[in-house]
Amino acid sequence: MSKILVTGGTGFIGSHTVVELQEAGYGVIIVDNLSNSKAETVDNIEKITGVRPEFENFDLSDRGAVLNFFLRHKGEINAVIHFAAFKAVGESVHKPLEYYRNNVNSLMNILEGMKYTGVANLVFSSSCTVYGQPDKLPVTEGTPRKPAESPYGNTKTVNEDIIRDFCHEEKQINGLALRYFNPIGAHPSSLIGESPVGIPNNLVPYITQTAAGLRKELSIFGDDYDTPDGTPIRDYIDVVDLSKAHVVAIKRLLEGKNKSNYEYFNIGTGKGLSVLELVNAFKKATGVALPYKIVGRRAGDIVKIWADTTLANTELGWKAEVPIEQTLLNAWNWEKRCRGIK
Ligand code: WQD
Repeated sequence: MSKILVTGGTGFIGSHTVVELQEAGYGVIIVDNLSNSKAETVDNIEKITGVRPEFENFDLSDRGAVLNFFLRHKGEINAVIHFAAFKAVGESVHKPLEYYRNNVNSLMNILEGMKYTGVANLVFSSSCTVYGQPDKLPVTEGTPRKPAESPYGNTKTVNEDIIRDFCHEEKQINGLALRYFNPIGAHPSSLIGESPVGIPNNLVPYITQTAAGLRKELSIFGDDYDTPDGTPIRDYIDVVDLSKAHVVAIKRLLEGKNKSNYEYFNIGTGKGLSVLELVNAFKKATGVALPYKIVGRRAGDIVKIWADTTLANTELGWKAEVPIEQTLLNAWNWEKRCRGIK
């Protein structure tokens, strides 16, 4: 059985990807330092799939620990999916060194470990944030990247370049970056989902916490943008659909179907939704009318972005399938389970 190392595998997208990998018949070993997730996620993954993934808890920015891990598992691991990173956009502005040290050193340690122990395949968790505010929409993989709005976003751009340059030199290693648009939702079992620490930065967890009564109301950051209803537009991708894209990417590399040893793909729905449209979709899906107020714009926000998913659809054979209302209902069911709400 092929065994996949999933770094950050107790996190939001990582845990959902572990479930999909196991259900596709892959063995999984998770490495996570639990800085932004919980060990009980491993139990919940096992409840969903009936298979307990291996789990090691250490910091991937520790070069010695990473090399030691790869040497201990030499010959066992067929591919790596690298999720582990700090990811709070706002926090990264105030803690740039922590973000660069953690996000960039972790990746370099993994690449080094792969090189020295013969692990040939890497799928990297990238982000549409590398495009900044695109001049033309929808965004294709040929859309030029732009300076990121935050150190967090720049670590994605820098890490893509590190993988590109490393694979250019190390021809035996295949890199594949998935540029996520906005991941939202939760597993239909409600056993795993998004668990932001503290006040959520992202829209959907803020919505579900407001619906659960944890937050007084949703603040909508600006309705004076150049969009039909004045609120910003994003391409919200269901987390299970997104996780399946990682399985397809792993299969592509393990079967040698990749066209070059560094590729990248947009992973979105191809449809843009405004903040107000998403709030209305939440009401339609759950029956919960959200209290909200319009406030000032949030620094660093772009106006609109959505993906052209042609390449992922044709080359990867992957397409987003979950309807937005189902995604939002899954997110709401997860929130209710977390808060003990019937
Ligand atoms: C979406 C829209 C806000 C909260 C970021 C990262 C991206 C990825 C996803 C990690 C925006 C509005 C939000 C709120 C609001 N991160 N909003 N009130 O900023 O598009 O993307 O998170 O992988 O890399 O860049 O996502 O969910 O924060 O915001 O009005 O309380 O919702 O202004 O228009 P964003 P978001």
